[in-house]
Formats: sequence, structure tokens, C-alpha cells
Amino acid sequence: MPSPADNDLRPIWLDPATGDVNVIDQRGLPHDLVILQLQTVADTVYAIREMVVRGAPLIGITGAYGVYLALRNAAAASDPAAVLETECRRLREARPTAVNLAWAVNRVRGALPPGGDRAARMRAAAEEAGRIAAEEAENCRLIGVHGLALIEALGRRRDGRPVNILTHCNAGWLATIAHGTATAPIYAAHRQGIPVHVWVDETRPLNQGARLTAWELARGGVPHTVITDNAGGHLMQHGQVDLVIVGTDRTTASGDVANKIGTYLKALAARDNGVPFYVALPSSTFDWGMDDGLQEIPIEERDPDEVRFVQGRGAEGVVSVLVAPASSPAANFAFDVTPSRLVTGFITERGVCPASAEGIRSLFPERIPGGSTSGD
Ligand code: MRU
Repeated sequence: MPSPADNDLRPIWLDPATGDVNVIDQRGLPHDLVILQLQTVADTVYAIREMVVRGAPLIGITGAYGVYLALRNAAAASDPAAVLETECRRLREARPTAVNLAWAVNRVRGALPPGGDRAARMRAAAEEAGRIAAEEAENCRLIGVHGLALIEALGRRRDGRPVNILTHCNAGWLATIAHGTATAPIYAAHRQGIPVHVWVDETRPLNQGARLTAWELARGGVPHTVITDNAGGHLMQHGQVDLVIVGTDRTTASGDVANKIGTYLKALAARDNGVPFYVALPSSTFDWGMDDGLQEIPIEERDPDEVRFVQGRGAEGVVSVLVAPASSPAANFAFDVTPSRLVTGFITERGVCPASAEGIRSLFPERIPGGSTSGD
């Protein structure tokens, strides 16, 4: 069984032979491991929008490589500067909630040398995207180091019995580049020999928990159980959850957390049952220019058919089946906002802090609220 430390897979990489951007098509998992080649901005926008790639840090890295692809395809354009601006805007707008996307596209755009040397600009874009990927991997490793202490402390109280950790959606290496955010402390604890068991929320409608987190944990040999999205409250009432760790798509400077729909209900249940509720994130997921998460964070609404249908493997391969009456309308809110007051703390690459403006500032003093990371 491969351990997560020597995981040989990455969800995205630049193919040195072709110059294409290769990605794991996460829509096929856990049944099919398919690699897709992104060659254009249109491919990249499609991959982000259709969730070939997903998870805030990975969406950012994909957008970063999208800027490189924009330059690669801009050869014939009469006004390359204007084309680049249009392409960057298309990339930034591919999905609305994860702040990492605009942050990464803007960072690569800002790293381009001035002038018309297309080869030099392409090279700079690819290098900057690669740097972002490497930094995110290191940030996630550090989140694991800092989060491990929390699990260790709980483990001491469990007297050899596994620490039960509940997570929602997929905030694993598939959603980042390596280690994951919410999973990084779990993998670190597992590597240290601390017994852990993970309750994996299935995460309807697209089942990122049942399909992706369970696949990752199984691959890494981490004990886990898939549960329905509504089971968490019951388990907490019966002392079966020691800790909740989730990821986030955008966290305000005041500590409000946007994450996969259903996260807020887990936070409410955790508060009612005295279960610590942590959010793990790299600094690229803070929106330093936002304060009021409920009012300001854009919440993506997706195709209602993702709710009406479920996908799974049948006797004849992967199929999609209609669950609701054909005539019933459905609504598909992809994220919700958990107010900071329900969050015990943040696990970041710089350490663990309380979920408040002061707590965040104590780790990131150089970030003065008011300067947005997501603006142009
Ligand atoms: O719609 P998705 O699958 O992109 O949503 C992903 C999540 O909600 C994750 O929890 C979040 O992006 C953090 S990933 C480290």
C-alpha cells in the first residue's frame, strides 16, 4: 500500500515533451483514472468550470497554467496585449467562489516581463505557475506539521483508540497539489503511527467525499468510513467525532469561511456538541479585502441536473441515473458560509490561530485589511 508521503500522483503537471498541461480528470474517479491534456484557455476554462479539476488551490494552479497557455496560443493575434487581458479575465471568471483563481492568474500576469518576446513571456508564465504549485505543496506540508499537534493532543486522550476526524468534500492532494489541506494533518498523523479514523461525508451532489476523499484515503491506507451528509450530527451526539477539519474556497480577513455546501451545518452540529471545528487553508485562500463573508462572498450556483442525477458504476460501466421526478425543479448551491464564531481555529502554513481578525493578523501581520488579493 503506498503511503501518502510517497504518493506518486499529482493532479496537474506541465508535460515537458508537448508543452501541454496534463490534469487528472477528477470526474472519472474513483472508477477511471484518466489524464486530459489542456492546450488552450478554452480547455482550461472548461476543465475548471466542469470540475475536471476542482478544489481551491488546484483551481488556482490550473488558472496559473492557463495564462501560460494563453501566451502559447497568442502568436497570430494582432493585439497580443488585449488578447492576454481577455484571456486572463475568462480564466478568472471560470468559477466564482475560490479566491485562489483570481489570485493565481493575477500573480502570473504580474510576473511577465514587459515587451514582445513571446518565448520569454511564455517561459516566465510557466515558471511562475510552477512556483505557485511548489509553494502550495510546501504550504500544505506545513499545514500538516501544524495540524498534527492538534491530533497528537487528542490522541493522548484517546488512550490508543483512534482519533475520529470528520471531513467534508475533498480537501486532499487532489484538490491542492500534494498533501491536501484538511487531509495534511491526517496523513501526517497516520505516518507518525497515531491511530486515526476519518468519517468521510459523501458530499452531495457531486460526491467529492465518497468519490475522491475515500479514494485518496484508501490509496494511502488511512482507515475511513463514508457516511451520508446528514450523519455527522448524530455521530457527534454520540461522542464519535473528536475533531472536524475542512478546507475552504475563500476565507475573509475576519474569519468567515466559504466551503462546500453543508459545511455550515457541520459547524453548527460541532458547536452544539462541543466538537472542535478547524479549517485548514494556505494563505492563498484568504481574501484580505473581504470582511463580511455572508454578504460579500460570491456563492456559485451550478446546473440543477447535478442534484437531479447521481453518477456511479453499474454493470455496464459508469452511468448517470435520475433520482428526482423528471418534472421536479432542483436548486444547486455549491457553497455556504460558516461565520467565524463557529470556527475553532485556522490551520495555516504559519501555524494555528483563532478564527478572528486578530487571530489571522497574528499570523499574517503584513496583510493590512483593505488591500484585496482578488482585484485586478
Ligand atoms: O466544488 P469543489 O469540489 O471545487 O469544492 C471544493 C471544496 O469545497 C474544498 O473543500 C475547498 O476547495 C478546499 S480544497 C483544499
